[in-house]
Amino acid sequence: MSELIIQASPGLCGAVDVSGSKNGALPVLAATALSGGKAVIRHIPKLTDIHVMLAMLESVGAQIYGDEIYYPNLCPERLDERLAHKMRGSFLLAGPLLARTGRVRISMPGGCRIGARPIDLHLKGFSKMGAQIENCHGFIEITAPRLHGEQIYLDFPSVGATENIMMAATLANGTTVIENASAEPEISELAEFLNNMGAKVSGAGSDRIVIEGVRELGGAKHTVIGDRIEAGTYLLSFAVTGGHGTVRHVKPQHLSPVLAKLREMGAKIKETEDSVSIDASKILCASDIKTMPFPGFPTDMQSQFTTLLCLAEGTSVVIETVFENRFLHVGGLNRMGASIKTDGRTAVIEGGRHFTGAKVEGQDLRGSAALVLAGLAAQGETRVRGEEHLKRGYDDMIGKLQKIGAKISILN
Ligand code: EPZ
Repeated sequence: MSELIIQASPGLCGAVDVSGSKNGALPVLAATALSGGKAVIRHIPKLTDIHVMLAMLESVGAQIYGDEIYYPNLCPERLDERLAHKMRGSFLLAGPLLARTGRVRISMPGGCRIGARPIDLHLKGFSKMGAQIENCHGFIEITAPRLHGEQIYLDFPSVGATENIMMAATLANGTTVIENASAEPEISELAEFLNNMGAKVSGAGSDRIVIEGVRELGGAKHTVIGDRIEAGTYLLSFAVTGGHGTVRHVKPQHLSPVLAKLREMGAKIKETEDSVSIDASKILCASDIKTMPFPGFPTDMQSQFTTLLCLAEGTSVVIETVFENRFLHVGGLNRMGASIKTDGRTAVIEGGRHFTGAKVEGQDLRGSAALVLAGLAAQGETRVRGEEHLKRGYDDMIGKLQKIGAKISILN
């Protein structure tokens, strides 16, 4: 397990060019299996989760040359199970394969450290649209000669379930309405790509999405949006070190709840059409956070924000409503001098603390990012084990941080 070595890096400054969105690229790549035409997908981030998805597409027959993806033939039965088991996002292939071929056999996605991550809402949608579903030997077998349009209510505005049902519905017979749909920016991005392929999706970005089924979809070109969580993480790298800087190639409106909180804490924020600048040279004050589906505060920024709240003046309360176990970074932060008490989905953070360098281990993707941020703010040396978590969601994090002045390196 490799280790990041981080020295105190006060006053980071400069500009970070944000990569394509992991959570935007994954559903778009899965959606390429809906069409026999050629897709050209640009601005794909270099992440392990993306490599797993691309390998899975190849396992069912995709030919991939640079940005171009096309399927001379589509063989769902050859889906590489070992890969499917590696990443939850692989389940996003279920909808496209089911809609295109009428059958899919895919490993039951495992939970992960942050929660059980069930797929009942995905399956509820497929079953309402006429699919037969069997769960045997750890695999989900889904068959449907032809899906039919349906009215589907999601008990929770699940991102993945919204994406999977939306993709499956593009080729269904009739019209599907998804009520209480996820409104995350990545949903709107997927809908735009699907419509460019010839689908008829409307209402994406709201809680009610209507999909009128068509007979087939063609190829399309798409440029993946900037990763709002990556951008938010680098904004916080300036904030935790009392620095100032800019994140480029991201839409500020995709970060609106995060920017609102940073302003509330006293940071100076400036926005252009595709960048955000922050000046956090003054001490920030405490603020309470409650994670919610978009446009609420994003759960994927909760861990990183907890690090910042340890340094702010005053006491903050963080409530994590989306996942049941997303405080895995708290142990490491407390080891570095934080004073955080958790009880279930609530964390109480005593601010005004100073981090001191220590050996800590990341347990999940965003929790590992929170520990890196603490290392940048800490006095002395911090060693963060678990860099492989970071490679799942951050394209060249070390290079990007070094470019704005961070003293960070990797020990393999
Ligand atoms: C997506 O995961 C993201 N991943 C997650 O990002 C993100 O945290 C999450 O959405 C919430 O915004 C990708 O897009 C690849 P959900 P997803 O379905 O789709 C419950 C990161 O760090 N639920 O919206 O799996 C579930 O238990 C990752 O980049 C059901 O109950 O999230 C959870 O409590 C982490 N039944 C809540 O909904 C279901 O069928 C949110 O899950 C599905 C979900």
